[in-house]
Amino acid sequence: SKWKNLLEKLSAIEDLEEEEIAEILDAQDPELEKELFQLADQKRKKYVGDEVHLRGLIEFSNFCRKNCLYCGLRKDNKTLKRFRMSPEEIFSVAERAHRLGIQTIVLQSGEDLHYDAKTLAELIWKIKKLGVAVTLSVGEREEEEYIIWREAGADRFLLKQETFDRELFSKLHPDDDFDQRLRCQQKLMEIGFQTGSGNIVGLPWQTTKHLAHDIKMFQKMDFDMIGIGPFIPHPSTPLGQHHTDTQLKLKLTLKTVALTRILTKNAHIPATTALGTLVAGGRELALRCGANVLMPNLTPLAYRSSYEIYPGKICIQENWGACIPCMKKMVEKMGRKVATNPGHSLKNRSRVHS
Ligand code: 5AD
Ligand code: SF4
Ligand code: FES
Repeated sequence: SKWKNLLEKLSAIEDLEEEEIAEILDAQDPELEKELFQLADQKRKKYVGDEVHLRGLIEFSNFCRKNCLYCGLRKDNKTLKRFRMSPEEIFSVAERAHRLGIQTIVLQSGEDLHYDAKTLAELIWKIKKLGVAVTLSVGEREEEEYIIWREAGADRFLLKQETFDRELFSKLHPDDDFDQRLRCQQKLMEIGFQTGSGNIVGLPWQTTKHLAHDIKMFQKMDFDMIGIGPFIPHPSTPLGQHHTDTQLKLKLTLKTVALTRILTKNAHIPATTALGTLVAGGRELALRCGANVLMPNLTPLAYRSSYEIYPGKICIQENWGACIPCMKKMVEKMGRKVATNPGHSLKNRSRVHS
């Protein structure tokens, strides 16, 4: 086919130029997509195997000091009922998750300074004693705070760039500085966190050139983890009316996942909840074209619907803990297996994993 050369190059050297990536993202050719997804699935098997890692997500506060244009948790969204969990409550959820076999606890919140460094450090220390890996996803903080949390035992940190295009970044993030955000991710790596970045696909003003650049940056910065999800407009945000074709956005997100898998080789890549929200079966599709991680929602039911980053989020109605067996079934149905290890980074930086 027309794409034979690019696919052969991808297969053989697992790399492409930015312009070539954009060409693939632009193409709307079912035959190309089929071959690209098959290749990404092969590379996933080669570099990270058949195991799927479950990361238990606790969304512990939806307060946020920022006003990112796309996000339902933005400060100026006055329609959202805000909640905070106490450290005791967070710990008890982590304990119950651990008893259900969860080996990674992800503590996620809006940018909420109510939790100071020491409070979170004590909580991390307590959760680490359960013998699980701890991932933080609490946004931009001072380097000193990151160090305190690393010393308390936190293993990983998620802080997405959201877009690696400077201009698009500044349009979407009235409170943020592009370089500061990049430096934060570099600092997190230097401090010894397994570090996750990622982007949103289908943002207003975003082009396939921007996405191709994101993928090259994932590769260049050699992140341990990369989260890729579709933009889902939230009606109570300034971008609430920006609806685009769902099938196009789905395909674009899956192609981004597939190309990211091939170019970054052994990064951990989640099949995101946002993709499962965009279309039924979206996470399964991602698992078949490069993804190897799932994030069961373990937020207490009373708060779950209030953590409304985007509307229509799946897993809101289920019983607490139901996502775990549901995901096990999903994974086994696909002929894969749920990992029985904490799924640390496969990048060989000399890091201490506890
Ligand atoms: N659609 C999709 N993803 C979103 N996020 C925030 N708002 C949206 C939205 N409207 C993502 C960001 C953030 C993560 C917690 O949620 O990538 O990092
Ligand atoms: Fe706050 Fe994060 Fe949402 Fe931005 S994306 S408004 S920092 S929760
Ligand atoms: Fe949450 Fe299926 S993954 S209910």
